[in-house]
Amino acid sequence: MEYFDLPHTDLKVSRVALGCMRIANKSVEEVEELVKTALDEGINFFDHADIYGGGKSEEIFGQVLSRNPELRKQMVIQTKCAIIPGKRYDFSKEHIINSVYASLERLQTDHVEILLLHRPDALCDPKEVAEAFDELYESGKVKYFGVSNHTPFQIELLQKYTKHPIIINQLQLSIVHSVMIDAGLNMNMKENWAQDKDGGVLDYCRLKDITIQPWSVVQASWAEGTFLDNPDYLKLNNVMQRLADEYHVTKSAIAIAWLLRHPACMQPILGTTSIKHLRESVAACNIKLTRQEWYDLYLASDKPLP
Ligand SMILES: NC(=O)c1ccc[n+]([C@@H]2O[C@H](COP(=O)([O-])OP(=O)(O)OC[C@H]3O[C@@H](n4cnc5c(N)ncnc54)[C@H](OP(=O)(O)O)[C@@H]3O)[C@@H](O)[C@H]2O)c1
Repeated sequence: MEYFDLPHTDLKVSRVALGCMRIANKSVEEVEELVKTALDEGINFFDHADIYGGGKSEEIFGQVLSRNPELRKQMVIQTKCAIIPGKRYDFSKEHIINSVYASLERLQTDHVEILLLHRPDALCDPKEVAEAFDELYESGKVKYFGVSNHTPFQIELLQKYTKHPIIINQLQLSIVHSVMIDAGLNMNMKENWAQDKDGGVLDYCRLKDITIQPWSVVQASWAEGTFLDNPDYLKLNNVMQRLADEYHVTKSAIAIAWLLRHPACMQPILGTTSIKHLRESVAACNIKLTRQEWYDLYLASDKPLP
């Protein structure tokens, strides 16, 4: 496993992280095996959110920690808050602080290394967010802060009021869902691919040393499920298979290697709950795709280049 110094922090983190959104319906024994396999593979970064499985994901993870307390010191734990099921968002000081306290209780830990604001709140008062961050930091509950699904100006607004650097922006990104890359490649073209839908978030994050954490790395969309072996993505699967054969890995490793090849030093979040898939995915860390291979994959997902 390759590690990197997470910018703005004193943390050394693995190039890929384990996402815990889908562990809610697994047994404690299954999650224990998954977590131990991740650690054995060198993954030291675990991504959570208060809403995953309605709190159940954090709860099971907490049970694993309670059975294996020695594992905690090997881990960087990140959680998120501010989505309220039923589709609204709450960046109030009270909600952020209460949510973190509830997450810590479920996770059976006294602090998390990183807290992310999960999705933008239209009613965000950045002064309140700054107060919440200060209180959580000063009480030792959270060391670092970041966001997810935020535009550059939303980050700038928060940053105007909080002294804590925004260190992470977790964003949907895969070969198939590459909106933030498409716009830059098609700059000033008439086609829809040129549309800037995110305020230039990729370049902004690079300029500010904000680490992008791609989510849904092998997922086409919620409705379609994974693009791996998906007949709707035949051309892409053929190119992934060709490269998988050449590198002696699986197609999933090629899809993740595509993200790792980007020079922004992104940290993909692996969402698998399968030990086999996890090991196959981690193999991506040993591959460096050539420039041509990277573009072959991009074009195979039916996107044009000018
Ligand atoms: N910030 C946000 O708004 C946001 C949104 C969604 C997710 N996330 C985070 O990102 C993480 C990943 O998201 P995700 O689960 O949607 O993405 P994903 O890693 O693309 O996984 C999607 C599905 O693909 C399957 N899969 C994964 N790896 C595979 C492999 N190597 N071979 C075959 N199938 C594979 C998984 O099933 P199996 O379990 O069977 O492998 C899973 O159901 C989540 O756990 C969460 O931490 C964040």
